[in-house]
Amino acid sequence: MLMTVLTKELRKESTGRCLIMIAMLENKELMALVDLTKEPPREETQRQYYFMAKAAKYVERERKEAGRPLTYFVQNFGCQMNARDAEKLAGVLEKIGYIPAEDETADFVIYNTCTVRENANLKVYGRLGYLNGVKRKNPHMRIALCGCMMQEPQVVEKIKKSYRHVDLIFGTHNVFKLAELMTTMFESGRTVIDIWQDTDKIVEDLPMERKFKFKSGTNIMFGCNNFCSYCIVPYVRGRERSRNPKDIIHEIQQLVADGVIEIMLLGQNVNSYGKTLEEPISFAQLLREIEKIEGLERIRFMTSHPKDLSGELIEVMKHSKKICRHLHLPLQSGSSRVLKEMNRRYDKEKYLNLAKKIREEIPDISLTTDIIIGFPGETEEDFLDTMDVVKQVEFDNAFTFIYSKRTGTPAAVMENQVPEEVTKDRFERLLKEVQAIARKRAQVYEGSVQQVLVEEINQQDKSLVTGRMSNNMLVHFPGDVSLLGTLQTVKLKECKGFYYMGELPDGKEAEHE
Ligand code: 5AD
Ligand code: SF4
Repeated sequence: MLMTVLTKELRKESTGRCLIMIAMLENKELMALVDLTKEPPREETQRQYYFMAKAAKYVERERKEAGRPLTYFVQNFGCQMNARDAEKLAGVLEKIGYIPAEDETADFVIYNTCTVRENANLKVYGRLGYLNGVKRKNPHMRIALCGCMMQEPQVVEKIKKSYRHVDLIFGTHNVFKLAELMTTMFESGRTVIDIWQDTDKIVEDLPMERKFKFKSGTNIMFGCNNFCSYCIVPYVRGRERSRNPKDIIHEIQQLVADGVIEIMLLGQNVNSYGKTLEEPISFAQLLREIEKIEGLERIRFMTSHPKDLSGELIEVMKHSKKICRHLHLPLQSGSSRVLKEMNRRYDKEKYLNLAKKIREEIPDISLTTDIIIGFPGETEEDFLDTMDVVKQVEFDNAFTFIYSKRTGTPAAVMENQVPEEVTKDRFERLLKEVQAIARKRAQVYEGSVQQVLVEEINQQDKSLVTGRMSNNMLVHFPGDVSLLGTLQTVKLKECKGFYYMGELPDGKEAEHE
């Protein structure tokens, strides 16, 4: 009853107070308020807490049978969006009684899959084969698959036929339903498959288990409407939908109250944020609102589409104290002809002008990009156009991909697929150029003093900590665990190609709150 009242309040009044009340109530307590003798509620957030309470009973039963706590392992593939979904999955799994494990020997293993390129799919099949042997040794083990790859019907057919040890399959649109689907899995004892073609649902206020205490991603929108001709994302992530700005702000406020100082705003095309809302708002306006949140130190976002990047956004970035000096602006190709075939809706000249304007307005910005090599019909001349843009813009870093044919996309049936050896040769030439430029650009900060957010103890040398500058570059410097999650002023002593070795300036103590 109390939960119903609280959640109703939450819907009615989207201001901070009741969200904080909900947050103050441990989720376990919220679950304890659920009355399992009643029918599941219809309102989605309440409904999922109902099923968390129900699934928890099954997990508890199995825990007693096993005589030990049950463990889970979420293996994430792909992009930052998936990483955020993985935190949502972990949030639910912990609420229903699983504890985290280090590897796939866990009792509940879930693969959050990616399908943007073919090799992402191949990896999943390989690991599923291995899991079959693991499962035979553990009667409590269950295997689940979710994410983009599951939105492809031929993939689900293949899994049903060849990987019968999988217990649960769902897609990108119903991640929020994990507890409900697991309940069905426990009750039926069969493989449960639930794939939605699309959705306009955005379910708020579910539990989340964050990887880092001091930084977090937050979805500002879902899906993509761009239909670049090589890309499978619009088919597997559905139509573009923006979250309500109030919900985003409240989530960030809560995250900040919980220790987060850096936020990454996530969307396939953040520059078109807000266009489909009842009360439209631009991405730049949203950023202005987020900037006002006290205690939040850094704002990042990903990904920008050049066709939608507004002058207003450049202005906001230029004057912001919190937006990081990093812009990821996928180029994909430097050839106007190829860009047209790709359905990118900008040409070489427009991209160059945009990059020039950004560099002029925000001189200390780090510009990074994505480039695809070997798109169908790409000629040597087209490739040289890409090289030309790379040389002119001087990207601080570039992710380079070999074109991968994705069934169902327009490019998959285009003629003139480029031979593998030609693509590989171009890829290597591009990579060489990109790396040489990145090395050159990285060096410009040598000797300067920068703000670094300390993220972890260095993996190789435990006397060092590793952090990120505003421009996203990594810095390693002497420090200990007490620095984790803090912003430090660090002197960059030596550039090692793509990262820096640094030190706290002479005589200066580490800055603690
Ligand atoms: N082949 C190769 N790279 C692709 N990307 C998207 N689809 C494909 C594909 N079919 C790349 C794009 C995008 C990044 C996330 O993945 O460069 O920006
Ligand atoms: Fe894919 Fe283009 Fe959408 Fe990016 S903008 S997700 S490349 S369709």
